[in-house]
Amino acid sequence: MSMEELKSTIKGMVVVGKGILAADESAKTAAKRLASINVESTEETRRQYRNLILTAPGIENYICGVILFEETLSQKTDNGILFPEHLSNIGVVPGIKVDEGLAEFEGSVEQYTKGLDGLGERLEKYKKFGCRFAKWRAVYHITENTPTEMAIKRNAQDLAKYAKICQQHGIVPIVEPEVLIDGTHSIDTCHKVTEKVLNEVFAELKKQDVMLECTILKPSMVISGKEAGNRANVDEVAKRTMKVLKAAVPSQLPSINFLSGGQTPQEATAHLNRMHTLGEHLPWYVSFSYARALQDPALKAWKGKEENFNAGQQAFIKRAKLNSLATMGKYTEDMENQDLDMLIVQ
Ligand code: 13P
Repeated sequence: MSMEELKSTIKGMVVVGKGILAADESAKTAAKRLASINVESTEETRRQYRNLILTAPGIENYICGVILFEETLSQKTDNGILFPEHLSNIGVVPGIKVDEGLAEFEGSVEQYTKGLDGLGERLEKYKKFGCRFAKWRAVYHITENTPTEMAIKRNAQDLAKYAKICQQHGIVPIVEPEVLIDGTHSIDTCHKVTEKVLNEVFAELKKQDVMLECTILKPSMVISGKEAGNRANVDEVAKRTMKVLKAAVPSQLPSINFLSGGQTPQEATAHLNRMHTLGEHLPWYVSFSYARALQDPALKAWKGKEENFNAGQQAFIKRAKLNSLATMGKYTEDMENQDLDMLIVQ
């Protein structure tokens, strides 16, 4: 493993004003997204959609890394260039989702993540396609009895094993512990659970001797459950999230890139922006790695129709730009109603 290789990847992925796009939906998830605009999911429609997003003019001004799904590695843009190669050509670092989805612990709603077997060999294969970083997602369900200590421990151990294997192969690991937003729980509960989860993840990363300076954390925000009454406002989400991260995340970690986890695009941008206007010192770079919150407007504008191709790209770029502004605390709500060309930053 070369430390230089990992450090140079980190340099490409931690860039002021930019964030990471998650475009790594599995075939099953992609089918769900396409069904929402009445498009049948085939290898070709998935390619067309990824082409729209990944070739959107100016994407490289706001996005410095893209997480891809295995199928996309060998697909091509409309101009016949392999997607990872296209991204490298425009200065965006290609990465890959390497977990193989979730499985249930017997007799429980809780889940662990599959994919450790043969991970090293798969990483070598993905490297040949130009991938320089990876992602592994673990999930935590909040109910009256969960997450249990057992699930918190097992997921932390697997995240750490994955991160170690990645670094041994010169791949930067994105470690993604997602406390799910589903449920009626309060922000208080989410706060406690997130802190516990992160403490365990960092304890295991330490045990496995994972180099934190070559690791990226992709956490969920501290937020009220989606079905909770009296949900916490933007200010509280930003403050609580920062409090937990400061308590649990060592300062050697270069970057924290949030997932959107079922927040609306607007909420996800507003929360990130508020974290940057609190006036607090942040020991790490704080940015985004959204999937739905970056892609939903583009999907809705495109609707699978050739004549909407430009509108889809514009919608994607607008959302990417708003999130870029949020990483600098320069986003305001009225920008939502402005045309992309008119988005003037004060
Ligand atoms: P969302 O932003 O839609 O939560 O997706 C992020 C992601 O990569 C999930 O693994």
